[in-house]
Amino acid sequence: MSVSPESFSLSGKVALVTGGSRGIGKAIAIGLAKFGADVAVTSRKLPDLEGVAEEIKRLGRRSMAVAAHVGRMDEINNLVPQIKDKLGRIDILVNNAATNPTMDQAMDIEERAWDSIMNLNLKGLFFLSQAVARLMKEQGAGIIINVASVAGITPNILPVYSISKAGVIMATKVMAQQWAQYNIRVNAIAPGLTKTRFSEALWSNPAVLQGITEKTPLQRVAEPDEMVGAAIFLASDASSYVTGHVLVVDGGRTI
Ligand SMILES: NC(=O)c1ccc[n+]([C@@H]2O[C@H](COP(=O)([O-])OP(=O)(O)OC[C@H]3O[C@@H](n4cnc5c(N)ncnc54)[C@H](OP(=O)(O)O)[C@@H]3O)[C@@H](O)[C@H]2O)c1
Repeated sequence: MSVSPESFSLSGKVALVTGGSRGIGKAIAIGLAKFGADVAVTSRKLPDLEGVAEEIKRLGRRSMAVAAHVGRMDEINNLVPQIKDKLGRIDILVNNAATNPTMDQAMDIEERAWDSIMNLNLKGLFFLSQAVARLMKEQGAGIIINVASVAGITPNILPVYSISKAGVIMATKVMAQQWAQYNIRVNAIAPGLTKTRFSEALWSNPAVLQGITEKTPLQRVAEPDEMVGAAIFLASDASSYVTGHVLVVDGGRTI
């Protein structure tokens, strides 16, 4: 297969993006739609999602907004049939939703915080992938993209979050290995610090921001849109022989 601009086209594909209401998930959802995909977005709050779905429809694509907590098994299991009913199939899953409710360090972290982080960032990601992969297996192919973090490669100031993201990287490799036989490719994107609500406490603090930019070869933090190119590459035929890979998008921070 020779590579052409069409190799990056997602025309005719249906994508599901978790945490698609804002930040990196919203940027990726709109990016996938710009490259031709119909896109369903999910998160907990329907009004925010509906705005994104409207933006996607204005691009001429089909879209749907579904409220779901991706850390709860019943809501995960309800998600896939709803999207299949309305959009017919799922070709691309972007596991982007994640949380970090505490700044406690490892000596102080409490079970409740551990459970909330692991339920969404790792357990939810795995079981939603499993539910979607079962559909992809029936369809004969699929693409899963997990949004990990550089925190899953080198620990940062969020201890349990870092552990969860290391888990996401291993989940990516395990799923890639076990589901390649069904023509399902599974890869991860590992962003560095990106200007979203999630990380606002870091980038809005001038001293912290300066410390981070000084250690980043490109000398700045990322905008959410800068994660989109990696997602398009991994979602499209341009990456047809890439699976189990972690694409670091961090301005060189982890060098
Ligand atoms: N920003 C960074 O610096 C950075 C760096 C590395 C990696 N990341 C990763 O990038 C991904 C996106 O983060 P972001 O920075 O774009 O964060 P964000 O702007 O805060 O967006 C988080 C999204 O996840 C949704 N969400 C939160 N809890 C959820 C739940 N229980 N169930 C379903 N959806 C839920 C939120 O919507 P609702 O509130 O409506 O649920 C929202 O759509 C995450 O995996 C994060 O770990 C971010």
